[in-house]
Amino acid sequence: MNIGIFDSGIGGLTLLHQAAVLMPHEKFIFYADTDHVPYGTKTREQVISYVNEVIRFMADHDCKAVVIACNTATAVAAEQLRSQYASLPIIGIEPAVKPAVAESGGKRVLVVATPLTVHERKLQKLVERVDDEHLVDLLELPGLVEFAERGEFVSDRVTTYLQKRLMGYELDKYRELVLGCTHFNYFKDTFRGLMPPQIHMIDGSLGTVRQLMRVLDERHELLEAPAEMDVQWQQIRHDVCVRYFESGREITDAARLREMEQLHERLELMRKI
Ligand code: DGL
Repeated sequence: MNIGIFDSGIGGLTLLHQAAVLMPHEKFIFYADTDHVPYGTKTREQVISYVNEVIRFMADHDCKAVVIACNTATAVAAEQLRSQYASLPIIGIEPAVKPAVAESGGKRVLVVATPLTVHERKLQKLVERVDDEHLVDLLELPGLVEFAERGEFVSDRVTTYLQKRLMGYELDKYRELVLGCTHFNYFKDTFRGLMPPQIHMIDGSLGTVRQLMRVLDERHELLEAPAEMDVQWQQIRHDVCVRYFESGREITDAARLREMEQLHERLELMRKI
């Protein structure tokens, strides 16, 4: 059986990448809903209807679990989907606010995400629950999703966009930067260059993959013992079994598959930052 992983676009590869490194014996279906990307600037009703279609696709494609590799889709749709598809485990990524607050040592925490995630009740409730000392600030960065979908990861325009959005934040007062959108992992090198050295970046992908492994293990559906964290993508990439889909259409074109491979290579670099 397969593990389904989906996002509005290439952001979800962050989770696929992490899952493939830790579970190289599994078979994955990766689904990017490119007809509807970006989700983060749409209405919650639109996103719920897109996500419903994706989950139906996953259920029809022999998936033993589905990972919502999209903070935005998790925020608006995860609870509803779990009650709709009771027998299919659905694991959703969330901004890693809790570990960030725990590790901030009393300094400030900046959570960057899409507009929809920032305005959703789910994130606000999470912040209320863990942020006793009012250390957390939320910032929308929709432009990064567009840059990522264009394949523009390092450029003057990306740097200028981030500099402008971060203007007004006294970054010396911060300890943690939470990447609350899976597309943002592609920009870790630019973030690193703009952040003072004490700021640590954190995202929810490792926690989500660990949760996926726990759920599969409990159901006796985890194929083999997890691999070591320090396995390199280059060592395993030929053995990893993934079928890639864009809004339901399988990618078979060699050039497009090569692009996916290059995105994995970029994510492997970003994983080390
Ligand atoms: N990558 C997604 C997330 O984690 C959504 C980006 C978008 O489509 O706006 O929120």
